[in-house]
Amino acid sequence: MTVDDIKTIGVVGAGTMGSGIAQVAAAAGFGVILRDISDAALDRGFKIIERSLGKLTKKGKLTEEGAKEILGRITKTLELKDMAGADLVIEAAFEKMEVKKELFGELDKVCRSGVVLASNTSSLSITEIAAATSRPDKVVGMHFFNPVPVLPLVEIVQGLTTSDEAVELAYQLALKLGKSPIKTKDQPGFIVNRILVPYMNEAAFAYMEGVGTAEEIDQAMKWGANMPIGPLALLDLVGIDVALDVLEVLYREFGDPKFRPAPILRQMVRAGYLGRKTGKGFFDYTEKV
Ligand code: 3HC
Repeated sequence: MTVDDIKTIGVVGAGTMGSGIAQVAAAAGFGVILRDISDAALDRGFKIIERSLGKLTKKGKLTEEGAKEILGRITKTLELKDMAGADLVIEAAFEKMEVKKELFGELDKVCRSGVVLASNTSSLSITEIAAATSRPDKVVGMHFFNPVPVLPLVEIVQGLTTSDEAVELAYQLALKLGKSPIKTKDQPGFIVNRILVPYMNEAAFAYMEGVGTAEEIDQAMKWGANMPIGPLALLDLVGIDVALDVLEVLYREFGDPKFRPAPILRQMVRAGYLGRKTGKGFFDYTEKV
């Protein structure tokens, strides 16, 4: 299969990342089958897409008509078996290995034998996910960054069993999606999260220790290190739960205490303070949700 044979992309999971991936794929002219486990989750995903397209139309980067066409290319479904119609699938479900393994096992049964199955995992092992299928050579990482419609990078992750062909296909597809892919090895956190997530974690420790207020810590990193947003606002954007999941993987896989999560992150997850998506994290978003 070449990238030109891909007409329809399956996206599993309509959360922040899945909806962004669906939007970018539809905007690049692909048909998209977007699957989640409830109508509420699918509706939330569609709202995220509508809001993002709204920003683009407001900026004059897209016409109202164009936005409608993009939305029209996305089909919602609750059935995983509908992925049978996809020429490549990108999974963006929960960051739990058991969930991914089960999903990939099912996708393997449902999808045609030549179809490449990609995971948007932030840090989990592509090799382990691939082992849950009968096509480990066709399982690859395609890791997008939040907000997906804005950030150019897609990390293309080659597991131990992933074929060079599958990596090349994912790479070419990322280019067709208008993204800037970089190939990386299947190591915990790949390139970006291995570096970025410990940075955000350190900011959470600094906050806990009262080095500065949330506002001061973030403003300092903007003024002093030219970051577009501060590390605590970035935690809120990424999701405190997602960041904690990545830290747990880095900590467990490397066995290095430098990756230990700041206790405040665990507390915030327990409280349901997950960042923007729940309206509260280090900052308050109740107005914007
Ligand atoms: N859809 C479409 N357009 C959007 C958008 C969205 N969801 N969000 C922002 N934009 C556009 C805005 O309309 C604006 O457009 P313009 O340049 O034409 O005016 C532009 O992006 C900038 O947005 P804002 O003016 O609202 O605010 P900022 O200048 O602060 O930019 C940001 C927002 C792009 C999110 C910027 O703050 C940023 O780059 N932050 C860092 C993000 C980052 O590091 N992400 C990686 C997280 S790690 C990750 O995702 C991996 C995972 O596995 C954990």
